[in-house]
Amino acid sequence: MRRAVCPGSFDPITNGHLDIIVRASRLFDEVVVAVGINKTKATLFTIDERMDFIRQAVRSHPDSPTNVVVDTSHGLLVDFCRVRGVQSIVKGLRAVSDFDYELQMAQMNNSLAGVETLFMSTNPQYAFLSSSLVKEVARYGGDVSGLVPDIVLKGLRDRSAS
Ligand code: PNS
Repeated sequence: MRRAVCPGSFDPITNGHLDIIVRASRLFDEVVVAVGINKTKATLFTIDERMDFIRQAVRSHPDSPTNVVVDTSHGLLVDFCRVRGVQSIVKGLRAVSDFDYELQMAQMNNSLAGVETLFMSTNPQYAFLSSSLVKEVARYGGDVSGLVPDIVLKGLRDRSAS
């Protein structure tokens, strides 16, 4: 089975992430979305909330792919790949500024375990989008509809109302 992982913090998932996940699901038999657990990094949403947002966003997408599963990843991504039988990492590249670090990680992961990284160009519609910017705009009451799945929009609104 050709299996790929789309790794990230997904705090929260954006429409840019969702676009990459759905496009990857057309190329692989199974796509595992690995939500990274990094105890040193403070997140707005809990791991369960982030996983739930991803599942609901994939389900609500017009393609509604059935070959996307969501999981957590605690340690090295290459260990996750070994345990889950994943041969490829799929990453979205928004701009040249993403490239240096992504290339470094891709080469490290390949040297550690022979896992290949495939870069997919981000849909230009979402080239400026990041989870951090979405959170900042939402925190100050800006409109992020159209940039995140509806379930995330609701989550951000609930969070700022509390
Ligand atoms: O959404 P993010 O925070 O940019 O995702 C970064 C992530 C989780 C994909 C990256 O930090 C990662 O792969 N972490 C797992 C730990 C690991 O394998 N580190 C070595 C990378 S070469």
